[in-house]
Amino acid sequence: MEYVALYRKFRPTTFSDMVGQENIVKILKHQIINNQVGHAYLFSGGRGTGKTSTAKIFARAINCLNPKDGEPCNECEICKGILNSSLVDVQEIDAASNNSVDNIRSIREDVIFAPNMAKYKIYIIDEVHMLSTGAFNALLKTLEEPPKHVIFILATTEPHKIPVTILSRCQRFDFKRISVSDISKRLAYICDKSDVKYNENALNIIANSAEGALRDGISILDQIISSGITEITEENVKETLGISSTKTVASVISSILNNDTKSALNNINELVNSGKDIKYFIWQVITFARDALIYKVTGDTSLLTNFSAAPDIREISKASNEELTTIINEFSELENKIKWATFPNISLETAVIKLCNPVSTASPVKQVSAHKEEIKVEKTKAPQPATPKAPKPKFNNWADVMDSLKNTGKMTLYGALIDTTANLLDNTLTINFPKERTFGKSIIEKAENLDLLKGILKENTGNEYIVKCAIESDDTVPNTSNETENMLKNSGINVTIS
Ligand SMILES: Nc1ncnc2c1ncn2[C@@H]1O[C@H](COP(=O)(O)OP(=O)(O)OP(=O)(O)O)[C@@H](O)[C@H]1O
Ligand SMILES: [Mg+2]
Ligand SMILES: [Zn+2]
Repeated sequence: MEYVALYRKFRPTTFSDMVGQENIVKILKHQIINNQVGHAYLFSGGRGTGKTSTAKIFARAINCLNPKDGEPCNECEICKGILNSSLVDVQEIDAASNNSVDNIRSIREDVIFAPNMAKYKIYIIDEVHMLSTGAFNALLKTLEEPPKHVIFILATTEPHKIPVTILSRCQRFDFKRISVSDISKRLAYICDKSDVKYNENALNIIANSAEGALRDGISILDQIISSGITEITEENVKETLGISSTKTVASVISSILNNDTKSALNNINELVNSGKDIKYFIWQVITFARDALIYKVTGDTSLLTNFSAAPDIREISKASNEELTTIINEFSELENKIKWATFPNISLETAVIKLCNPVSTASPVKQVSAHKEEIKVEKTKAPQPATPKAPKPKFNNWADVMDSLKNTGKMTLYGALIDTTANLLDNTLTINFPKERTFGKSIIEKAENLDLLKGILKENTGNEYIVKCAIESDDTVPNTSNETENMLKNSGINVTIS
C-alpha cells in the first residue's frame, strides 16, 4: 500500500475542518452564500498555514452542485472531480515549475472557452511569486479583462515579490501563523485518528518547534510515528528534534548566575557538538527563566510551562528579578539575531559570555593591581635595555591579555580563547587550545579575528608577533604559568607574554 504522508492524509476538505484562519473562512463562506465571489484572489502568508488547502476548498465550494452553508458537499460529481483532479475546469498550476510567458499565455488562450462542466473555470496558481516578469505581464492582461466565468486564486509565501499592478486587482487574504495551542489540538486529533497514544506536553513541544506552520508540526509527528514509535512521549520528541534536556538548560542558567563562563561554555560546547537545536535551546532558556520569575513572584508551580522541571526552577528562582529579566531580555534579543546568523553557535557563545561577565564600570581594585604589575614589569625589565620607541608594555602574561579582551568588550576573541594557554618563542606566540575547544581555534584563525588579536598585542606590547594556533594533544603538558615564566626568562625577551 502506498504510504501517504500524514499532512496530505489530513488535508482539510471543508472550511470547518480548517484550523485557525477563522476570519478568512468566514469571509469566503459569506461570499459563497451571498453569491458575491470575485474574479481574483491572493492568498498570502507563511508556509504550511493552509493557503493551498483553502484554495481547493474554495474552488469546490464555488462550483459545488449542493453547497451547504458555504461549504462544498464533497459528494457531487463536481466536488469529486476536483478532489481527484480529473475535472479540467479547476486547474492547479505550480508557478515554480511553470513560470514562463508561454505557460501563462496558454492559460490566456484557455480562459476564452467556457467551462466544460462546472460553473466557473478556476486557476489556482501556487507560488505565484516565481513567475517571470514577462509571465506577470501576461497574467496582468488576463486580470484586466477577465471573462465572467473565470476565477484566479493566486497563492504565495512572498507577496512582496508580486507587482503592485497584480496586487491591486486581487482580493487579498493574509494567512496567519497557526497558534501553538491550535497546532497541539490538531496533532492530538491526528494521533486519535491514527490510534497513536500521546503525552500532551510532547505535542506542545512539537507545536512550538513548528513555528506556526501546521504542516511542519504534522511532518514532525509523521517522522516520529513512521520510525515505529507507538506512543508520543517527551523523550522521543526531544530525541527527534535534537532538543536539549531541561538539566542542560538549568545548568547553563545557573552558570550564568554564578558568573561561571567556563562551565556555561562547556555545556554549550556539548550541546553544539551533539547536534542539538540551538534555536530551540534559546527558546528553552527563555521559558525556563520566565518560569523561575513567575515562581518567584507567585510561588505557584501550576503556572509553570516546564512543570516537570519544578525543582530546578525553584532553585533558579533564588536569583534576583533583575538577573532573571536580564537573561530573558538577552536571550530574546539573541532569538532575533540568530535568524540571520551564519554561525548561530558563535552568537550563543557570545551572549553567554556577556551574561557571565556583566560589565563592571572601571573597578578601582582592578586598576591598582594592574598598576602594581606594570611596576613589576619595569623591574624585571631593568637589566635589559628597552627598545627606545616601544610604548610601555601593558601585558605581563596571558591572563593580562585575557583580562584586557574582556574589559574592552572583545567578547568573540575572549570567548574563543577561554581555557587556552600560550607560549612565546622568539616572535612566535603559540596559543594552545584544549581538544574540546577546537571551535575557539577556528574563530581565532579567521583572518579578521587574527588581525584584531595581533593589533591588540602590538598596541599593548609594542611588538609584532606571529600568532600560531595549536590543539593540545594528550601528551602535551599544558604550560603552567611558572613554566612559561621560566621559559620566558630564559628566552631573554623584554616584553613577556606567557
Ligand atoms: N489551517 C490549516 N488547517 C488544517 N490543516 C492545515 C492548515 N494549514 C496547513 N495544514 C496542514 O498542512 C498541509 C499543508 O497545508 P497547505 O498546503 O494548505 O499549506 P500552504 O499554506 O499552501 O503551504 P505552502 O506555502 O508551503 O504551499 C495540509 O495538508 C494540512 O495537513
Ligand atoms: Mg501551498
Ligand atoms: Zn459538491
